[in-house]
Amino acid sequence: MLRVVIIGAGKIAGSHLKAIEQMNRLRAIAIADVQEARALETASRYGLVAYTDYRKMLEQERADIAIVALPHFLHKQAAFDCADVGCHILMEKPMALNVAECDEMIAAAERNCVQLMVGLTQHYFRENKMAKQIIERGDLGKLIMINDTRHQHYFMDTRPDWFLSKEKAGGGIITNLGAHSVDKIQWLLDSRIHTVRAKLTHYADHGDVEGSGCIYAMTDAGIPATIVQSGYKGVPINDTHLIFTEGMLKLVTGRGIWISDNGSYREVPLPESANPYILQLQEFIDAIDGARPLECSGEYARTVNEVLEGIYRSHTTGKEEVV
Ligand SMILES: NC(=O)c1ccc[n+]([C@@H]2O[C@H](COP(=O)([O-])OP(=O)(O)OC[C@H]3O[C@@H](n4cnc5c(N)ncnc54)[C@H](O)[C@@H]3O)[C@@H](O)[C@H]2O)c1
Repeated sequence: MLRVVIIGAGKIAGSHLKAIEQMNRLRAIAIADVQEARALETASRYGLVAYTDYRKMLEQERADIAIVALPHFLHKQAAFDCADVGCHILMEKPMALNVAECDEMIAAAERNCVQLMVGLTQHYFRENKMAKQIIERGDLGKLIMINDTRHQHYFMDTRPDWFLSKEKAGGGIITNLGAHSVDKIQWLLDSRIHTVRAKLTHYADHGDVEGSGCIYAMTDAGIPATIVQSGYKGVPINDTHLIFTEGMLKLVTGRGIWISDNGSYREVPLPESANPYILQLQEFIDAIDGARPLECSGEYARTVNEVLEGIYRSHTTGKEEVV
C-alpha cells in the first residue's frame, strides 16, 4: 500500500482523491492547504488529516507519494520539499513557470532518487488513445495536419486570481490550457514540436495574462499543427481536427471521436476504460515499482514548457522561434 498526501485542496484535488478511492494500491492520508477551511472540508470528505503547512505534513506523514496541486509559481519549491523527504512526486501541469525551473526540479528528483511525474492527463483519455491508434494504423491514410481549437471563457469571476497573474501562473490560457494542446499534439504524433510562430492578445479587463493565442507549430515528424485558443466570451469549443490523405477525424477530449464517412462525421464507438486520473496514477505506481518508465516524466514535461517558452518568445519577437 502506498500512502499519498495532497498539497493544495483546490479544484483539481478532488479528481485525484476520487481516483485514489477506487485504487487498491493507494491510500490518501492527508491534505494541506493554506486556506484552513478548504483543507478541513476536503479532509472530512475523504477521511484525511488536514494541515495548513504542507512542509509539516511532509515531515509528519512521511508519505510515499505527494500530489502537488498548487499555483504554478509554487511548483518548484514544492518539488524540492517533497524530494528532500524522499516522496515521489506527481506534479500538476504545467510542470513549472519555465524550463530553468524544470531543470532544477528534475535534478532534485534525481538527487533524491524519487520519481517525478507531471499530470499531463491527455495521455489517459480513451478517445485520445483511439485517435493515436487510428493515426498509427493508418486507417485514414497519412496524417497531414492537426488543428486544435479551444474556446473557453477564461476570465470568469470564479477563476482564482493567481491564474490571471503572469508572475504566479507563468501565463494565461496558453500556459494553462495550451499546455494540454502542446502535449496532445506531441503525444499523438510521438514527435516533438521544434518551431513555433505565435500571436497572442491581452484584452481582458483584469489580470495581466494573455487571453488568446494563434499558434503555428512544426513537429519533427514534418506534420504541422495549429493551436487556436480564446478565453474571451463566446461559445465553448474543444475540438481537435486531424486531417489525413483519406479522411478526417474529430477528437473532442472528454466526449468522443468522429471520423469522416461519405462527407459527414460518424461517431466511433469506444471501449470501456478507467477514469483518466486512475490511469495516470496507475502509470505512476508502475514507475515506482520499476515496471515501466514514465510517459509523463519530468524530462518529457520539460519539452512542453520549452514549447510554451517558444510561443511567448515568438509573440514578442514577431518571428518564428526554434524551441
Ligand atoms: N490536469 C488538469 O486537467 C488540471 C485541471 C485543473 C487544474 N490543473 C492544475 O492543478 C494545479 C492547481 O490548480 P487548481 O485549479 O486546483 O487551483 P486552485 O486555485 O483551485 O487550488 C490551489 C490551492 O492551493 C492552495 N495553496 C496556495 N498556496 C499554498 C501553499 N503554500 N500551501 C498549501 N496550499 C496552498 C490554495 O489555497 C488553493 O486551495 C495547477 O497546476 C493547475 O494548472 C490541472
